[in-house]
Amino acid sequence: MAKITEIEDLKRIYKRRTPKMFYDYCESGSWTEQTFRENSSDFDLIKLRQRVAVDMTGRSTASQMIGQDVAMPVALAPVGSTGMQHADGEILAAKAAEKFGVPFTLSTMSVCSLEDVAENTTKPFWFQLYVMKDREFTKRAIQRAKDAKCSALVLTLDLQILGQRHKDIKNGLTVPIKLSPHTILDLATKWRWGLQMMKTKRRSFGNIVGHIDGITDMSSLSVWAAESFDPKLDWDYVKEIKELWGGPLILKGILDADDAEMALNVGADAIVVSNHGGRQLDGAMSSIKALPSIMDAVGDKIEVHLDSGIRSGQDVLKALAMGATGTYIGRAFIYGLGAMGQHGVEEALRVIHKELDVTMALCGETKVQDLGKHNLLVPRDFYGDWA
Ligand code: GLV
Repeated sequence: MAKITEIEDLKRIYKRRTPKMFYDYCESGSWTEQTFRENSSDFDLIKLRQRVAVDMTGRSTASQMIGQDVAMPVALAPVGSTGMQHADGEILAAKAAEKFGVPFTLSTMSVCSLEDVAENTTKPFWFQLYVMKDREFTKRAIQRAKDAKCSALVLTLDLQILGQRHKDIKNGLTVPIKLSPHTILDLATKWRWGLQMMKTKRRSFGNIVGHIDGITDMSSLSVWAAESFDPKLDWDYVKEIKELWGGPLILKGILDADDAEMALNVGADAIVVSNHGGRQLDGAMSSIKALPSIMDAVGDKIEVHLDSGIRSGQDVLKALAMGATGTYIGRAFIYGLGAMGQHGVEEALRVIHKELDVTMALCGETKVQDLGKHNLLVPRDFYGDWA
């Protein structure tokens, strides 16, 4: 068995074992992919302050996100079609998260349904909601999340229309897969993936199939999003959703200080500074660069989380030191899942935890809560001087 020492190891195995169309779905940004790239490369602009002769015993990464205990402030992000990256992917990832003690967020566009994940786990998970034109579906989805005992609703605000990812169109990506000479060729060498897929009955969008009417073609996310996602979603409707849900609400996809203020005003419990992993507005600022202005605007009034671009424990540390209370990994856990199923997700979490712990120690800190700007060297022009 290959020795896994970094997230990149999992990515290499994932690429070998997973059909190209699903690897490409994960490893893409929209249009030119500038934001997708900068989400990661902007982390490299921030340097860590090495401190020495500090007692580094008794370290802990334990913390809280929205008042819930976490073994480290790193949740699994909602990722659409996770169950196509590996058979029963959402259940496996949720189990890994549960074992590790971090939150798992189930996407509306998951393959395993809310009910399926609830049946196969023992701790509450979080549910990510996409708002559909069919408002009854949205109401039912919220009720289903309550019935499944989800402990937070993560409402995504940055995907009412889908950013174009060229590769998905060129690969003819659909869920479930439609067989064509192109897709058969793609699947032919991925026998391990195929065998596991043949053993499961979960191969479609489990939260949607049988729960929504009037969809003519739901197999392509782009067609489906265009037909079904509600482009009218606005702050008034966010308020309504908050009332309907009545529990902890996390608003995901905030990249601008003005929107962060709006999120605060509707009474969200937390926001996620996110550009959807660079998959929506290409040309937008990276999440880590957007964080400082959002912290300045609302950081002392609402819990601020961050996703997009995190591939290591060092990245997590930088986000926390810049003021985030929690972070999310999407691609980093998908690499593990596609490489080795549940064990791979556990490996991804183990790698990131170790990196976070050791980096924290070498920065002279023993608790994630004590991390702050004093641990960083941030270029004076990091945020940029924008007109
Ligand atoms: C869906 O959330 C996607 O980004 O593909």
